[in-house]
Amino acid sequence: MGRLDGVPEVDPQRPSGARVYDYYLGGTHNFAADRQAAAVALAAMPELPAVLKMGRAFMRRAVAFAAEAGIDQFLDLGAGIPARGSVPEVARQIRPEARIVSVDLDPVAVVHTRRAAAGDPRSGVLLADLTDAEAVLGAEPVREILAVDRPVCLLAVAVAHFIPDTERLGRALERYREALAPGSHLVMSHACAEGEPPHAKQLLRIYNQTTSPMILREKEEFRAFFGDWPLLAPGVVAAADWRPTGGDPEPGPSVRGEIIAGVAVKP
Ligand SMILES: C[S@@+](CC[C@H](N)C(=O)[O-])C[C@H]1O[C@@H](n2cnc3c(N)ncnc32)[C@H](O)[C@@H]1O
Repeated sequence: MGRLDGVPEVDPQRPSGARVYDYYLGGTHNFAADRQAAAVALAAMPELPAVLKMGRAFMRRAVAFAAEAGIDQFLDLGAGIPARGSVPEVARQIRPEARIVSVDLDPVAVVHTRRAAAGDPRSGVLLADLTDAEAVLGAEPVREILAVDRPVCLLAVAVAHFIPDTERLGRALERYREALAPGSHLVMSHACAEGEPPHAKQLLRIYNQTTSPMILREKEEFRAFFGDWPLLAPGVVAAADWRPTGGDPEPGPSVRGEIIAGVAVKP
């Protein structure tokens, strides 16, 4: 793929986390190198798609929860490549007027999100590193599409484990929390290190060969990303246990704890 829409060159030979994830979710925006990396990961951990679907199901429930609570603005950090059950899709089932800005570091994700959002004045797409909170908050799509003096649902779903620099990530999240209005929600999920998950080490090895090295964190480290915003019940739990509504994928007990999740609200 060459240069598109001012987005940097993509190396199709080097697997990217966003495209490998697209492949797991049944998408088509991936290259041979991504599919090969996915095959190696799947051989090591056949439950991986179930684990990722559990994470997506959490995201859908949390977005629906925020929309039902009255939120009609969403800032999706590490939004990925559009797939079924995306943030805009779920939010607009409840709030058809919802405004959504998607942020991603991966050029392929940004190109496909831009295509999906083309002509929609309530959608914005930004190619940026979410840890540069100042740049994200000051970027045109964020300033033009979102009103940060009203509650926003800030999402960082299945992305923080691709950011090894805990301090930098923590500072960025602090800046977002500071910038957003009371009543804003923070929705996050993370690959968890608790109890030495059996597949984690293999998975880390595989991801460390992609453009998206991974890091696992303990529950307490993850909880700190919410700062002083109170967590809604049931707190930080396995993603499948965050307000389950039935009908979502049920991962087996051996992998249930591998993605943890939580939602907090700014007082
Ligand atoms: C596993 S996908 C998750 C996509 C979506 N949030 C979901 O849960 O389905 C992680 C995404 O985060 C993006 N990403 C990784 N590090 C990032 C960073 N520092 N800033 C912005 N996006 C990042 C990747 O490019 C990828 O698209």
